[in-house]
Amino acid sequence: MERIKSGIEGLDPLLGGGYPKGKGVLLTGPTGSGKTIFGIHFLHSNCASGKKGLLVLTRTRLDDLLQQASCLGLDLDPFINSGQLLVDNVFESRLKEAQNASRLGKGLELVEKDRIGTVKKLSLDVDVVVYDSLAALSKSWNCVGEEPLKKFDPLYNVLADYGCTSLFLMDDRAHRNMQGFADYLVFGKIELYYKEARQKGKLDRFMRVSKMRGMELFLDSVGFSITSEGVRIENF
Ligand SMILES: Nc1ncnc2c1ncn2[C@@H]1O[C@H](COP(=O)(O)OP(=O)(O)O)[C@@H](O)[C@H]1O
Ligand SMILES: [Mg+2]
Repeated sequence: MERIKSGIEGLDPLLGGGYPKGKGVLLTGPTGSGKTIFGIHFLHSNCASGKKGLLVLTRTRLDDLLQQASCLGLDLDPFINSGQLLVDNVFESRLKEAQNASRLGKGLELVEKDRIGTVKKLSLDVDVVVYDSLAALSKSWNCVGEEPLKKFDPLYNVLADYGCTSLFLMDDRAHRNMQGFADYLVFGKIELYYKEARQKGKLDRFMRVSKMRGMELFLDSVGFSITSEGVRIENF
């Protein structure tokens, strides 16, 4: 199976050479664990090598993400300006819709758009996708019903049908509350987490590839750090 570079040097060998081409991988972890930065590496490295990217933002401001990218020397603005990186800013369009709706006295549900349709339109000739984050697929924080599945299945299938290599980011807490609904469909899963370091009171960053179809898993905890140059996998 062909692989697409993750943009993080030491990560590709753990994935069998990179993310599996045309498939979707779920990346979970607590807040601040580095999910969005993994996504930034993926988009930057693939756009830099001429591929076309799509960034879907549901719970992060675009300017915050772009500022973070630029701090790490992984500037995404040039790719956005050239049209090589498309952005579907669900977060900001929802805010605008909500403001307009309240001005017009309408309920929010009336202006809820069909996101699958938007992704379908945008992803036709896209190679790499970062969806930040899947937690927004549920309206309620404690959702255990079918709502997120009903939204995720078609979304996943549209992207797979178009041959997009996709990274779906999801906060740990939402992932638990939604009973890991996305785990079954995705081709692979990577978990980011913190663990108490030997030096008491300090937490270290770890990751684990807990699912990757078609290859043997190492399942070891792999340490990593986040520096001014982004993610660095330890012992690589
Ligand atoms: N230049 C940097 N040096 C060290 N750590 C950084 C740097 N930039 C960001 N970080 C770390 O990355 C974290 C944010 O990562 P992010 O990908 O936004 O997390 P998540 O999306 O999982 O919430 C920050 O909390 C910070 O600890
Ligand atoms: Mg994030």
